Amino acid sequence: MSILPLRVGVIGAGTVGREVVRSFLERSPRLAPSDGRPLVLAGIAEKFTERAIANGIPAELLTDDAFALVGRDDVDVIVETMGGDEPAHSLVRAALAAGRHVVTANKHVIAHHGPELEALTRETGSVLRFEAAVGGGIPLLGPIAQDLAANRIARVRGILNGTTNYMLTAMARDGRDYADVLREAQAKGYAEADPTADVEGLDAVNKLVILARLAFGLWIPPEAVSNCAGSTSGKPGTPGITGVTAEDVAALGAEGRTLRLIATTRLAEDCAIEASVVPTAVPAGSPFGRCNGVLNRVEVDAEPVGRVAFEGPGAGGAAAGAAVLSDLVSIARGLGSTWGGAVRAEGGADVPVRPVDGECVAAPSGACYPVGD
Ligand code: HSE
Repeated sequence: MSILPLRVGVIGAGTVGREVVRSFLERSPRLAPSDGRPLVLAGIAEKFTERAIANGIPAELLTDDAFALVGRDDVDVIVETMGGDEPAHSLVRAALAAGRHVVTANKHVIAHHGPELEALTRETGSVLRFEAAVGGGIPLLGPIAQDLAANRIARVRGILNGTTNYMLTAMARDGRDYADVLREAQAKGYAEADPTADVEGLDAVNKLVILARLAFGLWIPPEAVSNCAGSTSGKPGTPGITGVTAEDVAALGAEGRTLRLIATTRLAEDCAIEASVVPTAVPAGSPFGRCNGVLNRVEVDAEPVGRVAFEGPGAGGAAAGAAVLSDLVSIARGLGSTWGGAVRAEGGADVPVRPVDGECVAAPSGACYPVGD
């Protein structure tokens, strides 16, 4: 076994990237797996260099040129924590094309460019890992792809967005209003730079696309996933939790229900994929109803194992940073991409995708929320 260190370049020194760098600086002896290569930090790229230095990023490792970091011959693995579509997508693609391994927390890039990036890793032999992209610090994607590989997965559903769960929990518990709790979730570092993706359910849609890839071997287009609950007028409801009012929350609470933004994907009998991300009225005492604050919870229904559940911190720099570090340790140990173990993706763009069907409950705002268990 080679004991040459695995040299890591980090792109983005924001909420997650900062935590990754901090781990290198504070815990470096623990970043040397007993059966793999030790990890060393070789460089960090961040556009706002002065702010990064003020946040404790070592100036001698810092550059503002991310493409130059990707092109360096003394970097083996790129960690991409800048988020968003471009330039993150081009940087990940350039790194894989150059034969570098990549660890990313970027659910948008994986969900929107997954087929292209998966094909590229097969061409170049590079490894792409993205455990931090779904479920924050919960070990979730690895267990689904590898440890459940002998099972046939029928359905995956879960609370996949910490910001909206934090907001819905605070609205139900304290009767606070939407704008107030959103500000608090942003201040705690849970929300995306533009929280529209959180509150409209698009962040959870991206995560559901990734889960469907691992569960069913298909890349479904994010645009095909429904993110609106119904309404009593029959028209499509508002996206994500944007239409949820304090009155809706109180009325459902009086019936022993609480709202959770539940993402569900299911393989239907006709081989279509059902996929939705909608505020769902669940019993307050159920596992989803008791999953509070920034926690995420994912349930996988599979044969022959039955139901397997995962719960834990779903957002925040420390949780996602820990998941990035675990992926680096996996690469240092010679493991493959996150989908290794899961079936190979064969197409997906032509598979019919439709919303998950089910009973709804009418609320004072005119929304009709699906009923969950
Ligand atoms: N904004 C995301 C969330 C961050 O709230 O879940 C973690 O992916």
